Order: sequence, then C-alpha cells, then structure tokens
Amino acid sequence: MEQTFLMVKPDGVQRSLIGEIVGRFERKGFQLIGAKLMVISKELAEQHYAEHKERPFFGELVDFITSGPVFAMVWEGENVIAAARKMMGTTNPKDAAVATIRGDFAMKVEKNIIHGSDSLESAEREVAYFFKEEELVSSKKLI
Ligand code: CMP
Repeated sequence: MEQTFLMVKPDGVQRSLIGEIVGRFERKGFQLIGAKLMVISKELAEQHYAEHKERPFFGELVDFITSGPVFAMVWEGENVIAAARKMMGTTNPKDAAVATIRGDFAMKVEKNIIHGSDSLESAEREVAYFFKEEELVSSKKLI
C-alpha cells in the first residue's frame, strides 16, 4: 500500500492545527501508521530540503523548519501521495483553493503549514529520514 510523509510545520503546531489536519486525513479514510512531535536538527533539515540547497531562501527554510516542534507523520492508503498534495493545496497559499489546508489556514509561502512528499521516491526517502522501521505500525496489524 502506498505511503507518504506529511509534516505539520512549526507554524501549524504553534497555531494548534495538528488536530484539524490529522482529522482531515482520517475523515478522508487514510490510515495513520506513524507520528511524532519532534524538533528537527539542522542536519536533518538540510538533508530533507537538499533539493532546495541552491535556492536563495534555503537558509531561511532551514531556520524556520528547525525553529520549533513539527508533527511528523506517515500516512497510508491508495493514491495517498497525490491525494494528500491535493488536500494540502498549492505550495503558495495565495493560489491555494478554498477547502484545502493551505487555502483555509495559510497566507504566505514561507509559512504554509504543512509539507507533503511530492513523489513515490521522495516519500520513501522522507519516511526513512524521519522514522525507524519499528516506529511504523503495519496496516496489516490494524483492524
Ligand atoms: P515545502 O513543500 O515544505 O517544500 C519547500 C518549501 O520551501 C516550501 O514548502 C515552502 O514553504 C518553501 N518556500 C518556497 N518558496 C519560498 C520562498 N520564496 N521563501 C521562503 N520559503 C519558500
């Protein structure tokens, strides 16, 4: 079954949006198979955002994502990677549709509430960066 890595960023945690966001994916029908509140180290942030290393905002991005706790999650379900991206809305909240997470709760691209893997390859890589195998509950074990 397909898995994706989702993370409520420090702005979302600070604004008490964890429950709202988890609820949306639960109500949609996806299965939460791993989750933790954590503060990301600079090393992990640089690894996670390596593809943006040359961008002018890379330093700010790393500073922001390490500035407070994030809520890291692994979700499972059919087509969950693309479906979660749709539910999150566009990266820039200014363009995000109403009823998406960013459309409803965010105003600025630097503070866009949530991160989600954009492909199967990045999902596999990001899940492995943030979670050990034993921290994930196999959906086969869930009723
Ligand atoms: P995310 O999906 O986590 O992946 C990369 C992040 O870079 C993106 O969300 C945005 O929050 C952030 N980002 C994109 N453009 C800018 C920008 N111009 N300034 C700061 N951050 C940005």
